[in-house]
Amino acid sequence: MIAEAVTTRIAVFSGKGGVGKTTVAVNLACLLGQRMYQVGLLDADITGPNVLQMMGIDEAPRIRDGKLLPHSKHGIRTVSLASLMPPESAVIWRGPMRSKALEQLLDETDWGEMNALVVDLPPGTGDEALTIAQHVSPQLAVIVTTPQEVALLDARRAISFALKLEIPIIAMVENMGSMVCPECGHAVDLFGTGGGKREAEVQQVDFLGSIPIDPGARRAGDEGTPIVLGSPASAVAQALQGIAGEAKKLLSA
Ligand SMILES: Nc1ncnc2c1ncn2[C@@H]1O[C@H](COP(=O)(O)OP(=O)(O)O)[C@@H](O)[C@H]1O
Ligand SMILES: [Mg+2]
Repeated sequence: MIAEAVTTRIAVFSGKGGVGKTTVAVNLACLLGQRMYQVGLLDADITGPNVLQMMGIDEAPRIRDGKLLPHSKHGIRTVSLASLMPPESAVIWRGPMRSKALEQLLDETDWGEMNALVVDLPPGTGDEALTIAQHVSPQLAVIVTTPQEVALLDARRAISFALKLEIPIIAMVENMGSMVCPECGHAVDLFGTGGGKREAEVQQVDFLGSIPIDPGARRAGDEGTPIVLGSPASAVAQALQGIAGEAKKLLSA
């Protein structure tokens, strides 16, 4: 069981899709990798896997002694079902099959020595999240939300789910709260920033930080160079660095 071998285990959740889970997971993995961790990154979004794209990985997977070898890029070991499927083909498996695929990805990968694992989940409270809770036993659930009420409503569900799964630390990240002006670099309040922090207080969970919207973050994702590596001085990268620092503090408390 991976939980026994890996000291730091983080799962990135959300109630709603498109709020920035994969962006947070990929950048968090890269930041942990810079802080002396040997980091694995598992794409557990079986039906919407985006991790390879955001990590800039396009090579075929390799198998050694019957085990899958993680892709090695940006110093991170990345595993995704997407590299085992024809590109752009849809996975239309029912829940038990998606769970089985995840179990296999976890167990039949030669992860090597690794002391941190970041898992990128699909939105919602489905089979993938249950499987990861059982097989990875994360110590930290990072719940990503945007500040709008609809996203916060779904974030509450994700928090309740993480509580039921008995994940010891639950912490929120607000994404896309403000917008970075491409002209002057100043952050402009767009959707009412602060919603995530207030919600974390109401729900009595930790708050890791708020990430502004920046077209550069979207570009970085599309181009496969995580923004914390490509533009470490940008407002988004700085926010992500703060978030990684807070996560580390919570994990070592
Ligand atoms: N802070 C941000 N600023 C600009 N674009 C962002 C930001 N966060 C995420 N994105 C972009 O929004 C889209 C959805 O983000 P993604 O991380 O894939 O969300 P999820 O995994 O929750 O579906 C992606 O194209 C991503 O690059
Ligand atoms: Mg995603």
